[in-house]
Amino acid sequence: MARMRNLILTALLSVIVVVSGYVEELDDKFKEYLKNELWLVEFYTPWCAYCHTFEPILYEVGAELKSMGSPVNVGKIDTTVHTSIASEFNIRGYPTIKLFKGDLSFDYKGPRTKDAIIEFTNRVSGPVVKPLSSVQLFQHVMSHHDLIFVYIGQESLLKKKYYKAATEYIVHTYFFTASEEVLPKAVTLQDVPAIAVFKDGTYYLYNEIVDGDLSFWINRERFPSYFQIDSFSLYQMGELSKLVALAVVDEKNPSEKSIRYKTLMERLSTEYRDHYKSDYQFGYMDGNEYINGLIMGEVEMPFIIVLNMTIDGYCLPESTIETIEDLLRFLNSVLDGSAKLLGGNGFLQHTKRVFNKARSTVVSMFQAAPFFSCFVFGLPVGIVVLVIWRTCTAVPADDEKPMEGATASPALDAHGRKAKEMQPDGIEKTSEAKKED
Ligand SMILES: *[C@@H]1O[C@H](CO)[C@@H](O)[C@H](O)[C@H]1NC(C)=O
Repeated sequence: MARMRNLILTALLSVIVVVSGYVEELDDKFKEYLKNELWLVEFYTPWCAYCHTFEPILYEVGAELKSMGSPVNVGKIDTTVHTSIASEFNIRGYPTIKLFKGDLSFDYKGPRTKDAIIEFTNRVSGPVVKPLSSVQLFQHVMSHHDLIFVYIGQESLLKKKYYKAATEYIVHTYFFTASEEVLPKAVTLQDVPAIAVFKDGTYYLYNEIVDGDLSFWINRERFPSYFQIDSFSLYQMGELSKLVALAVVDEKNPSEKSIRYKTLMERLSTEYRDHYKSDYQFGYMDGNEYINGLIMGEVEMPFIIVLNMTIDGYCLPESTIETIEDLLRFLNSVLDGSAKLLGGNGFLQHTKRVFNKARSTVVSMFQAAPFFSCFVFGLPVGIVVLVIWRTCTAVPADDEKPMEGATASPALDAHGRKAKEMQPDGIEKTSEAKKED
């Protein structure tokens, strides 16, 4: 029995060794490689819990890319060891995943799953704009993607702009070129060259005069009009300059009400597209965990909510929504400012969120690296305790008082902020730390 277990363990370990062989541990010299190689790099720290969860996925990504014959190399770099890297590459959170291609780097912001990262890597590492040279190819691509942008026509100034915008948005979606002949029959063009987005089972054309800047239009149109929104896409919607109208439902227990909310949202997204296309992104979300974190409260599911992701503000309808007119009234009241805006980046809200975030960071630190965290948090506490103990047990002397202060404060300064987050009255303390910033 034990031998069997050992055997399995050895087999497992060797699989891990083989798989992890496709991910290189990099040092700061890796910048040399970037000149003529493609690299997908994870920037991590040993204390980040998400990095630990992500590690096996990165190994799988490395192995799969290798087996697919992808030219992209996979590596990871510890930014606590190579400390200049974090500021040089402007790393703000962990793990950060970047794809390096020539002089450009592309941030991955989607879900940390093998398939999503491989899809991203293949999309971004190839040419940003790919030609669709036949009807078959066009059909094939359409059947595989919910949304694609297509430039139709010959060389032009518009095509140059299209390439520029595609480079900017290739991290999010797909860009192609095609000639008029390969387009589906249903497509009618007034003018060539043209740019179209194919989504929602139809297509919409870019109109320079009405829609303005091409990048701006692509940003606005890069999501389906109505779809299942997850926390990652919601987060990206901060850059959309649109409000997000969401039906938050429990897909495992679909009630009559949740079906109604979803249906109303979907209807609105198509029937009122022209009216709302620059103001609202529509969708539904399965589960309320993420929204609860955002609004720092709890609303009973299912519910309808409008989010302003730029300021983390939100509006809730004041009465139940039964009909499409109810929903229209609610959305319009948000637009004309008569609906009450909750949340937002006010000082109190901001402080509360900073505190919540600090608390979850500390918790994840302890989960990922308990010993290290105990040391980090324990050391200042230990010093303070020692000082107090020494003061209490010491024979009172005239020069004792100033000494006490002098010893205690540097210890707090050095590790003060982290230690403060642990205290129950952290809200106030963190806000002090914030003010110092
Ligand atoms: C979000 O709120 C800010 C501040 O009130 C406002 O300037 C911005 O236009 C809002 N965003 C949208 C998409 O309405």
